[in-house]
Amino acid sequence: MKKPLTLILAVLALLGQSSLFAQKTSLKDAFKDKFLMGVAVNRYQINQSNKKETDLITSQFNALTAENDMKWMHMHPKKNTFNFEQAHKLLKLAKANNMFVVGHTLVWHSQLAPWVFKTVNGDTIDNLELTHRIEKHISTIVGKYKGKIDAWDVVNEALAEDGSYRKSLFFQIGGEAFIENAFRFAHAADPDAELYYNDYNLIDAKKRDGAIRIINSLKSKNIKIDGVGVQAHWSLDEPSIEDIETAIEMYAQTGVKVMFTELDISVLPSPWNSPTADVSVRFENNPAMDPYPNGLPDSVQDQLAKRYADIFKLFNKHSDKIGRVTFWGLHDGLSWKNNFPIRGRTDYTLLFDREMKPKKAFNAVIHTVKD
Ligand code: XIL
Repeated sequence: MKKPLTLILAVLALLGQSSLFAQKTSLKDAFKDKFLMGVAVNRYQINQSNKKETDLITSQFNALTAENDMKWMHMHPKKNTFNFEQAHKLLKLAKANNMFVVGHTLVWHSQLAPWVFKTVNGDTIDNLELTHRIEKHISTIVGKYKGKIDAWDVVNEALAEDGSYRKSLFFQIGGEAFIENAFRFAHAADPDAELYYNDYNLIDAKKRDGAIRIINSLKSKNIKIDGVGVQAHWSLDEPSIEDIETAIEMYAQTGVKVMFTELDISVLPSPWNSPTADVSVRFENNPAMDPYPNGLPDSVQDQLAKRYADIFKLFNKHSDKIGRVTFWGLHDGLSWKNNFPIRGRTDYTLLFDREMKPKKAFNAVIHTVKD
């Protein structure tokens, strides 16, 4: 009788220790010698509407990105109207807690304002006017936060899947020069801010080579670019660790820092043959595409924890090349993947569950540095 009891007590003590360990350990402390650990925050979190969320954000992370509030449609909704309220609040939260701030994002074809490409008569503007508008947008916003916002995603998603330029209106009107113009304007407005090119699927060879072409082209013209932002909206098995490693090494060889800027791991079936993050594409929901509405089975929870551990082991190995890893959302309940690319599903992408408790994946990530 004595032995099983001792065993049970020992197991209980171990379990108690590991949850205590999870509560006491923070991502930012565990990875302080490796890279920054960031999180994307939504409007309510920027407004500090929920103390529990604010506490989790400030205790676990040391870098902040606004999930939506600093996009063009919000910050510059009309030609002569700028809206700085949310950016100010984000900075307040960040500075009070000694956090690094990323401005996301200056030039992106999505979540843009309708006026941007139009004259007052409704015609499409020409390249000269587009350049003026991009300059005004960037110099006003970056200038306003000179010395305060640490880094900018200057251009977001300018590449198509084959590595050529995305045929957005920025490209159709401005040609590839819109990218270098954006970086020049950002640098002029705040010479000390770090400047990044950000995109999804940047591990895929064709798109990776496209991004390297952009980086090298900017560098050959002496235009400052400090980092490449790999969004990292990934799944349980794609992209492979080998391909992520190759990409990290190839990006680092160009001389820029590598950031993983929007990390989340979807456990749900993908309606696409290849994963993507094109926010304009959505599919219909059906039960087969939403297999875990009432909770994640342990087996998948374990798979997710292992996937996160494999990724962070690789990140740790290359921490000299990596500046920051940012999670795209605070907890599973708030992940954009619950509504993308299919609305109304239940996904389990992040390290904290819907009750804000650390998941197995959280412990697995922490253990990659503690072990
Ligand atoms: C997403 C947000 O998470 C959603 O709330 C919003 O509805 C759409 O945009 N690439 C990016 C991010 O650079 O800004 C996107 O964020 C996700 C894909």
